[in-house]
Amino acid sequence: MPLFLKQTINATTDLLVWKITEDVATLFKNTPLRDVHLARFEKMLSDTHRCGFLSVRHLLKAAGYSDLNLFYDENGKPHLSDGKHISISHSFGFSTIIISAENVGVDIEMQREKIIRIADKFIGSEAAFLSAENQSLYIKNLSVIWGAKEALFKMCNSRSLSFKQDMHIQPFNLDETVGNAYINCHMTDFSKKFYFHFKEIDNYTLVYALEKES
Ligand SMILES: CC(C)(COP(=O)(O)OP(=O)(O)OC[C@H]1O[C@@H](n2cnc3c(N)ncnc32)[C@H](O)[C@@H]1OP(=O)(O)O)[C@@H](O)C(=O)NCCC(=O)NCCS
Repeated sequence: MPLFLKQTINATTDLLVWKITEDVATLFKNTPLRDVHLARFEKMLSDTHRCGFLSVRHLLKAAGYSDLNLFYDENGKPHLSDGKHISISHSFGFSTIIISAENVGVDIEMQREKIIRIADKFIGSEAAFLSAENQSLYIKNLSVIWGAKEALFKMCNSRSLSFKQDMHIQPFNLDETVGNAYINCHMTDFSKKFYFHFKEIDNYTLVYALEKES
């Protein structure tokens, strides 16, 4: 299935999701790639990664862009040639992009038990409101927190940010699909509030983050 979702978030922000059901050859057909991106694509080890990468180019097309409008900085953060902000994520069967005049971040993750094993690496202040009593809800809550922190990381593009110590997700309700977070970086004096929204798509959690409330 091609374009799964195209949602206007606010006057200058669009969210697009691709459900990846095509194979590499189908996604590759008629997809222009800059030489540098083709070289990267050819080095990818798995078809899952290749499909994720190519499906993002189809999302760009659906948003009125192409791979020729996309470039990456030295940290791997994507940028658009017209100066708009873009954030990208792919995970197995889905990929997503968010494009905005404002700084934005997006993440999509498959909900997996594995996240419980790595929770200690990224859960800090959130331990105060998290409950592990119901495993299924615990995985959903951890997936939202992980996705929100990945989205914030992509917005800030700073290697000095610790997911555990510097990023704080405020208590949220799975039914409300919104939340807020703040960053207090212990290595710099950077401090800022962010807003995030999340949605479940099949067994995936998608989170996007904004600097303004909506
Ligand atoms: C870069 C990072 C955010 C990517 O996240 P991921 O879950 O592995 O993969 P996703 O599919 O969600 O995102 C990948 C996309 O992020 C984007 N990206 C890469 N580096 C980025 C950066 N520095 N800033 C913003 N976006 C970035 C790219 O567009 C990339 O996709 P593409 O290269 O195919 O275009 C992640 O690997 C990372 O480095 N996280 C921070 C490190 C950390 O502290 N991790 C966990 C601590 S417990």
